Amino acid sequence: MSAVVWETNFPGLTLLSRGKVRDLYQIDDDLLLVATDRLSAFDVVLPTPIPDKGRVLTQLSLFWFETLRDIVPNHVLSATEFPAQTRGFGEQLAGRSMLCRKTNPIPIECVVRGYLAGSGWKDYRVTGKVCGIPLPSGLRESERLPAPIFTPSTKASAGHDENISFDETVARIGGEQAEKLRALSLEIYRRAAAYAEPRGILLADTKFEFGLVDNELIWIDEALTPDSSRFWPADDYAAGRPQPSFDKQYVRDYLERIGWNKLPPGPELPSEVVTGTRDKYRQAYLLLTGHELS
Ligand SMILES: Nc1ncnc2c1ncn2[C@@H]1O[C@H](COP(=O)(O)OP(=O)(O)OP(=O)(O)O)[C@@H](O)[C@H]1O
Ligand SMILES: [Mg+2]
Repeated sequence: MSAVVWETNFPGLTLLSRGKVRDLYQIDDDLLLVATDRLSAFDVVLPTPIPDKGRVLTQLSLFWFETLRDIVPNHVLSATEFPAQTRGFGEQLAGRSMLCRKTNPIPIECVVRGYLAGSGWKDYRVTGKVCGIPLPSGLRESERLPAPIFTPSTKASAGHDENISFDETVARIGGEQAEKLRALSLEIYRRAAAYAEPRGILLADTKFEFGLVDNELIWIDEALTPDSSRFWPADDYAAGRPQPSFDKQYVRDYLERIGWNKLPPGPELPSEVVTGTRDKYRQAYLLLTGHELS
């Protein structure tokens, strides 16, 4: 097992920010994105790291960026060779880092849902719609939607993201860009879901981010990971109830069970939840890529 990284420390590099999961550095005009082993649930970073998690997120993102590069260009410059300024930091970087093009992120989270779960299910039960999109009546929890839908949300710099309608998205970023994001997001989702299903994973929903650089639209951040998506085991799927999952749902279920109030600080995770979560992340990686995380 490679060393657990809770937080990186690279003296001499410019730290732009520490997100919930990633540490972001600027090197010349580029970004160095380092996925740590931090885990957030309900938008709170928990105090217990998950070994291998950062490497799974980065390696799985690289896999999808490469597999789907014909749909839209992505921000990856390299994940194996880094500028001279990073010399000596190899151990903290290895396997979990990407040198990326620095973009102006578009302030919309591009969510696509193929099934009714999470905030989509809650919204539907109250309104019969998800983010203003009307759906047939009588759908059950976790049910496959007649067709995948684009349900954007705001990118809140603090606190929870908020679901918004397509019209609201147009109001914020303009019609042309909104339509482009919707088309790209749906296309990426369709391709990824069709790839994952015969490999035993249903892609219930996922979130993409895009950025602009030199007027070019680029897929940024992470790609179709258990952090940005709901992965369900295809074998156990049945509508009408919540699904067991490969993703953070496992941790979320634990947190619900102990009755945590979802306010910081988050509780420590017991070792069986850490091990179970690590296994879930690694298993998702194995099923999707066809090989173990090295
Ligand atoms: N190529 C890129 N150009 C500019 N910003 C990027 C790029 N790729 C990723 N980012 C940004 O880097 C951050 C990644 O860090 P992390 O995933 O830990 O953040 P987060 O806690 O999810 O925060 P946020 O709520 O801002 O997404 C995100 O804010 C994302 O928008
Ligand atoms: Mg993020």
